[in-house]
Amino acid sequence: MRRPIVGGNWKMHLTRIGAVRLAREVGEGLRAHDVDAARLDVGVFPPFVYLDSVGTTLSDDRSPLELGAQDLHPEPEGAFTGEVSAPMLLDVGARAVLVGHSERRHVIGEPESLIRRKTHAALAAGLRCVLCVGELLDERDAGTTNEVNERQLRSALEGAAVRDPDMLVIAYEPVWAIGTGRTATPQDAQQAHAHIRRVLADVLGTDAAARVRIQYGGSVKPANAKELFSQPDIDGGLIGGASLKAEDFVAICLAAVPR
Ligand code: 13P
Repeated sequence: MRRPIVGGNWKMHLTRIGAVRLAREVGEGLRAHDVDAARLDVGVFPPFVYLDSVGTTLSDDRSPLELGAQDLHPEPEGAFTGEVSAPMLLDVGARAVLVGHSERRHVIGEPESLIRRKTHAALAAGLRCVLCVGELLDERDAGTTNEVNERQLRSALEGAAVRDPDMLVIAYEPVWAIGTGRTATPQDAQQAHAHIRRVLADVLGTDAAARVRIQYGGSVKPANAKELFSQPDIDGGLIGGASLKAEDFVAICLAAVPR
C-alpha cells in the first residue's frame, strides 16, 4: 500500500555541469525503463548551489524526479550567515529536504533540539521531510539500536503537526554502514524498521504510521538493493555513493519498483 521512495543524496560532490548531467541521465534512465511515478517516488538531493541548475534541468525534461535539499535552517529568514531557509528552497523548486543526516549530527555536531526545529520547519513549509535516524557502531554493539532510533524519532517529532503522512519519510541509516561498504543484513534492517514503525504508531497513530515510508540507507548497491527493499517495512532507500553513478542509481530505483 505504500509507494516506495528512493533518494540520491549527492552530499558534497559534483560540479554544476556534472550535477546537471547526472540528473539528466537518471531521468533518462528511469524513462527508458518506463518507471511510473505512480509506482515509485524518486528524489535527488544536490548541494545547495546546484539546486537551481538541477531544478531547471528536471523541469525541462518533465522528469518524474523530485528535487530535494540536504539541509535547511529552521527560520524562514533573518541574520543567519551561510544558512538557507525553507521558503528559499521552495523558491528554487525543491520539494523535499533531508533533516538530521548522521553527517550533520555527528560530523557537524547538530543537537537534537535543532533537528526538531528543522523537522517542524520543513513540515510546516510543505516540504517533504526526510528525517534521518540511526545508531553509531558502539551503540549497536551495546544493543541500543532501537533505543537510539526511538530517542531520535521522538525528539524530532515532539510537537510536530504531521497533516499528511506522505510528507514525512524516515531514513534509517546505521552510521557504521554509511560509506563503509558494510550493510545491515535485511533481517537486522527490517527489525529496526519495524521498531521505528511501532514508535511512529505511538507518536502519530496507527493509520499515519502505516502510511509513512521508511527508507534504509547505508552502502546500498544494485547488488543488495532488491533483498533489502523486499522486507515488509523497508519502503525504499536513501543512497549516497551509488547515487553518483546514473546507471547504479537507476538500477537501485528499479529494485524498489513493486512487481
Ligand atoms: P552510502 O550509500 O554512501 O553508504 O551513504 C548513505 C547515506 O548517507 C545516504 O544519505
